[in-house]
Amino acid sequence: MKLIIVAGARPNFMKIAPLMHALKGHKTIQAVLVHTGQHYDVKMSGQFFEELNIPTPDINLEVGSASHAVQTARIMEGFEKVCIDAKPDAVLVVGDVNSTAACTLVASKMGIKTIHYEAGLRSNDRTMPEEINRLVTDAISDVFITTSVDADENLLKENISTEKIFMLGNLMIDSLVANLAKAESTEMKFKLLNKEKTIEFGTDFMPQQYGVMTFHRPGNVDDKESLTKLVHLWGEISEKVPLVFPVHPRTYKNIQLFGLQELIDSYHQLYFIEPLGYMQFIHLVSRSMFALTDSGGIQEETTYLNIPCLTVRPNTERPVTVWEGSNTLIKLDEIAAEVQRILDGNGKTGTTPRYWDGDTAVRIVKVLESL
Ligand code: UD1
Repeated sequence: MKLIIVAGARPNFMKIAPLMHALKGHKTIQAVLVHTGQHYDVKMSGQFFEELNIPTPDINLEVGSASHAVQTARIMEGFEKVCIDAKPDAVLVVGDVNSTAACTLVASKMGIKTIHYEAGLRSNDRTMPEEINRLVTDAISDVFITTSVDADENLLKENISTEKIFMLGNLMIDSLVANLAKAESTEMKFKLLNKEKTIEFGTDFMPQQYGVMTFHRPGNVDDKESLTKLVHLWGEISEKVPLVFPVHPRTYKNIQLFGLQELIDSYHQLYFIEPLGYMQFIHLVSRSMFALTDSGGIQEETTYLNIPCLTVRPNTERPVTVWEGSNTLIKLDEIAAEVQRILDGNGKTGTTPRYWDGDTAVRIVKVLESL
């Protein structure tokens, strides 16, 4: 079987890495890796390939940043040519980014079997671009690989037949399990964004005595009022406990656009640093007291690590991290009280969902062999 595996944006890379390793030298499945180029710079893409030992993509569509329609169209145009040339038997997409939906649409119309890893997740919030990508991808995929039982239930409700659904666990946790020990030996010294100063473990912030923060959802950071309110809240919290924030380019751009840098600089324990590579980021999370985030992946990683996670969103497509894991959904005005609860030693703990054990890629390869 000739199988094209698609990756486009940062959260895709830690999902495809274990799969590429498990398929290396496979006797009957030939994996062809296509990078759409949705994320393109070293910090958002290149360093993940290096650290996770992902082979150089066979093809890079180099689509770059653009509006949703333009980016999606560019990916479709480039990917159609790839499919015409490569004639794959199947295309495997992961996650919920624009690359996921665009490539599924192309392959499906060409009659190529499509496999969606991380199928069935639903936030039921169509204001999120990712939710539209999930719905589109799952409406036309042929094989559905899921990470948790709620995803299976969502797919069944959408009339997907049960024999097409495979609950096999979480590839992101495969990457975490494989790399945690190595990650925890990386140097914890970071250059502050826009400054000459560096900060490091042991002097500026102590292991287990800081929070790690990530925010990049359009719903939180694209609106001036909401981002300004967030900066004030982060600042207030940082006066009680240091906050380390590897800043996503979308958030960084908006901070500059809305003139918020000066306000940020007035808080001395609010540490804004460049986006981190995988190893340093995992290290930063694994030794943190809590995470404060709007990301999807971090909800899963903290659940595995059993570190309290406060997710500032009205909903999550990953509810298993709430009912089983250490994740809590909170509103903006609950941040301060929830952080205080953690500082008082009452942070939420949980258990690990089924099959989040580091062996998901092996299970996926078995299913691929049977297709
Ligand atoms: C995308 C995904 C989101 C995922 C996130 C992780 C969609 C709809 N969204 O959102 O699900 O959680 O990636 O990061 O697919 N930029 C750079 N360097 C890069 C890539 C982007 O500086 O390598 C800048 C771009 O100029 C752009 C901004 O970051 O303006 C946002 O990038 P984009 O890929 O449009 O969306 P994300 O917000 O990253």
